[in-house]
Amino acid sequence: MSAISLYAKPSPEFAQKLAHSLALIKTAATEYSPLTQASSLGCEDMVITHLMHEAGLDNASASIFVLDTGMLHLETVALIGRIEERYPFKVDVYHPDADAASAFVEENGSQAMYKSLALRKQCCHIRKMEPLERALAGKKGWLTGLRREQSAARAEVHDIEQQPERAKINPLVEWTQGDIWHYIALNEIPYNPLHDQFFPSIGCAPCTRAVTLGEDFRSGRWWWENESAKECGLHVAADGTHEAQEPAAFEPLSSIIPIREIQA
Ligand code: ADX
Ligand code: SF4
Repeated sequence: MSAISLYAKPSPEFAQKLAHSLALIKTAATEYSPLTQASSLGCEDMVITHLMHEAGLDNASASIFVLDTGMLHLETVALIGRIEERYPFKVDVYHPDADAASAFVEENGSQAMYKSLALRKQCCHIRKMEPLERALAGKKGWLTGLRREQSAARAEVHDIEQQPERAKINPLVEWTQGDIWHYIALNEIPYNPLHDQFFPSIGCAPCTRAVTLGEDFRSGRWWWENESAKECGLHVAADGTHEAQEPAAFEPLSSIIPIREIQA
């Protein structure tokens, strides 16, 4: 069953939300230049890339970057080429520092993220946070696909959040999952085929699983951790309000999804 047939259902205010998002992206391109999009290549980010194109942006007015943690599914990485084929953007790919990543695996094993929250955060730091710093260096604004509906921690996200060095712009804060999939269907936007296999939210392969009916969007992310722990640090507020807490106990893992570095 496709994600489109499961989820596409525009909310009554969809037309206004769309107009608002396009206007916000246009404003961001002029007021927060140089502007970049942080794309995880998930459904929200594919919508934003399409909206950037609709808003008249191209490589001269904005860039797109992907943090390739080395742990992404092959289906995810394949979308980079599909973006570059369809849209006037070149995607900048940032990798973790190879020495830091291999030293971490050498010391803690390839499944360290399941052993403790501290190790999971260390892995996220090496594979996401440090590359993010490089990706954002010199940028005045960055676009993300955060939506209020995604989790309790994101319920207060604003359109524009001023951070010390740049603005974080979230054009989809009010979009529902139904809006996202309606817009993808309407415009035949390329998307990750894993979304058709019950992966509503996709991150690194070892830390993402499919969900079952009735589970929420992000229940497949870091599923062995407490709800409050489920942020990797990319979107932790300056006051630390989304900071992850060590869960009381870890569930034993019954299955480990193969990762690209192991497949290679
Ligand atoms: S995460 O922090 O839990 O991983 P999520 O997958 O919901 O976040 O993505 C939220 C937003 O963070 C995305 O819309 C995107 O803007 C940014 N983001 C997440 N992962 C990446 C990535 N690997 N590369 C670039 N941006 C990312
Ligand atoms: Fe490591 Fe998982 Fe964080 Fe990816 S999401 S960087 S694999 S701990």
